[in-house]
Amino acid sequence: MNKIRIKVVICQMKKEQNLWGGRFTGKTDVKFVEFNRSFGFDFRLFAADVRGSAAHCEGLRKAEVLTGQEAKQIQNGLQKLLKQSAHDKDFFADSTAEDVHSFIEAQLVKIVGDVGRKLHTGRSRNDQVATALRIWLREAIDEMTIDLQNVQKSLIDLAENYRTAILPGYTHLQRAQPILLAHWCLAYFEMLKRDAARLFEVRGRVNVLPLGAAALAGTSYPIDREAVARDLDFEAIAENSLDAVSDRDFAAEFVHAASLIMTHLSRLAEDIILYATTEFGFFELSDAVATGSSLMPQKKNPDSMELVRGKSGRVFGHLMGLLTMLKGLPMAYNKDMQEDKEAVFDACDTTRDCLQITATVLRNLRVREERMQNAAIEGYLNATELADYLSKKDIPFRSAHEIAGKIVLRAIETRVELNDLGLSEMQKYSPKIEADIYDALSLQQTLKTKNVIGGTAPEQVEKALQKAKLYLTKK
Ligand code: ARG
Repeated sequence: MNKIRIKVVICQMKKEQNLWGGRFTGKTDVKFVEFNRSFGFDFRLFAADVRGSAAHCEGLRKAEVLTGQEAKQIQNGLQKLLKQSAHDKDFFADSTAEDVHSFIEAQLVKIVGDVGRKLHTGRSRNDQVATALRIWLREAIDEMTIDLQNVQKSLIDLAENYRTAILPGYTHLQRAQPILLAHWCLAYFEMLKRDAARLFEVRGRVNVLPLGAAALAGTSYPIDREAVARDLDFEAIAENSLDAVSDRDFAAEFVHAASLIMTHLSRLAEDIILYATTEFGFFELSDAVATGSSLMPQKKNPDSMELVRGKSGRVFGHLMGLLTMLKGLPMAYNKDMQEDKEAVFDACDTTRDCLQITATVLRNLRVREERMQNAAIEGYLNATELADYLSKKDIPFRSAHEIAGKIVLRAIETRVELNDLGLSEMQKYSPKIEADIYDALSLQQTLKTKNVIGGTAPEQVEKALQKAKLYLTKK
């Protein structure tokens, strides 16, 4: 066996750069330092962590662990850091900090001196990071909800701009029955409505304060956790310190909600891609959200929608990653959990991007009404009407279905639509068929008969649109 010479690279890090150097005598491996670091991504928790730290500082002051003077110095330092982060674009650039928490502490000590080293009294990075992530996430949920509502608004606008447009409805991707385009828009509206409700519910479970749990057992200082929670706008405090620092179910729930949003966007994208093909020709994407081919001059590719469809996969992947990361963790905190952040951040960024792009696609979509309507007329989409017509004349529906099927077969053989068959021709199949059959088979009538709540009759769709608009104004 070949002997492999392993060169151990020794870390030259200065002691103050990590928060835990005291009991160590050896140096940390350089590769491991990088491997262990999360600052490259968790710097995004900066503002949330500063806010959590300020509330903790106030908690310590009230508990008389810090003097008023000390607390004030720390608070001023934290505020300075916030300002600096907003103005200095290189603020995070050159830091070798292990994570955002050590970064903030090091920067604070730089500004306020040794008193900054008192801030970590009575807390651990374990309750600190859980708090920061929850603060960050509830804000992200609020922003995502606005993006979601914008897609809902663009669906309603599309529906209203093409109020009377009719297209074939499909099952098994076979022409089934005519529907209004507005009805199709409202179907996606409903899905997104549930997604918004899901996000709202998740937000409730995110909005619980872990601070005070400290490392795992609870803090040893008399901090009023309820007051800290109020200060940070948390609705409740975590009831068990072990649970508070060691679960990330709230993160998984969020990514699950994002995954369902992506599922819905992906279905919408698929419909749009399909309807924008030459074969369907119902929609045309705006130049603003399509691309051309480097080879084929005629091409207009729906890349925007394809990417939305494709990106759903990575959001689902993050959900699987989180669940797998969590499932075998022994109580309580384990470093595995540092992996939660990239999953949450990327799921959030990806879903928000997709929502925004989808809204733009919808807002600029050209609908080819005539082509759509012609497709709704061809292909016996009114065959069910024929069966219903007969059943209303007291023929049991099963028999009516059979008769209608035979008439459809006849029409297929003679290559005409049902409305083109002569009355006497149809009467051969059932004497109950009369001249009013043509009215019953008309496109408008086919829609009109679906007059139940949730149906595609114009009257119902109009009501549904008004209801949808009311929902949006109440948001
Ligand atoms: N960067 C760490 C994380 O994201 C912070 C918590 C570290 N805690 C610890 N005991 N090492 O989870």
